[in-house]
Amino acid sequence: MKKQIKKIIQKALHLFPTDDLYLLALKHGTDKRGHGYTGVYKEVFSKLKNQQLNILEIGVGGFDNPNIGGASLRMWKEYFKRSNIFSIDVYDKSQIEEKRIKIFKGSQNDVSFLERVANEIGTIDIIIDDGSHICEHIITSFNTLFSYLNSGGVYIIEDSHTSYLPQFGGDYTNFNNNSSTVGFFKELVDGLNYEYIPNRKHTVYDGEIISILFYPKMIIVHKGKNKHRLTPYNINEINKAENNPDCPIKD
Ligand SMILES: C[S@@+](CC[C@H](N)C(=O)[O-])C[C@H]1O[C@@H](n2cnc3c(N)ncnc32)[C@H](O)[C@@H]1O
Repeated sequence: MKKQIKKIIQKALHLFPTDDLYLLALKHGTDKRGHGYTGVYKEVFSKLKNQQLNILEIGVGGFDNPNIGGASLRMWKEYFKRSNIFSIDVYDKSQIEEKRIKIFKGSQNDVSFLERVANEIGTIDIIIDDGSHICEHIITSFNTLFSYLNSGGVYIIEDSHTSYLPQFGGDYTNFNNNSSTVGFFKELVDGLNYEYIPNRKHTVYDGEIISILFYPKMIIVHKGKNKHRLTPYNINEINKAENNPDCPIKD
């Protein structure tokens, strides 16, 4: 009965144009609605939706069935009316391709494949990782694709709760384990204030990330220049901290 009602609503939604992401998710049948992601996406994407963007989503959907999947890609295509939607999947999903939707076959854990895809796309404005949800794969994809993301771009990881599930390489005992997805991104948080950390070994992300948002099951990274030159005030504060015997920050 519930399924039938859903089908009727989906059919009705095909008759009425909408740009509401919750309704578009329902219309196209992606589980992003059920996970509660569409509310967050509305906030993050509302200013971007009329721009001409390159959007890459990892994970087409439908796994080894070549004819099933692409629900979210069709949702993005309808929402971002002027944008090109790209996707990758380990399985052949060429049947799903349509105008403004292009799909590459390969693994998100394969660095050279990702580089080839990114070079073909050119620069990317939004990356959404909804692939294997394996921590190692998520981290490899981020480390590889971040440099192809435009400044001002957004990188999103869905289902980050796998960070606590051992079958996905997660760890629910050591929350600072940086081989779990959440552990890895927690470490990047320190880099937001890299200029204030004496003797920091700089990473490629220092100065390149404006914000990192942690939601239940979801992480959002905004790329952009984050270079606040040290002001006399900051230097004074650091000196004071270094002279304080209780302060753990020392040269
Ligand atoms: C949850 S589904 C994606 C759902 C789709 N994004 C949506 O919202 O409609 C996950 C997809 O990721 C693909 N996948 C699994 N492991 C992958 C990997 N290592 N690299 C790329 N894609 C992978 C699966 O084949 C599956 O089609």
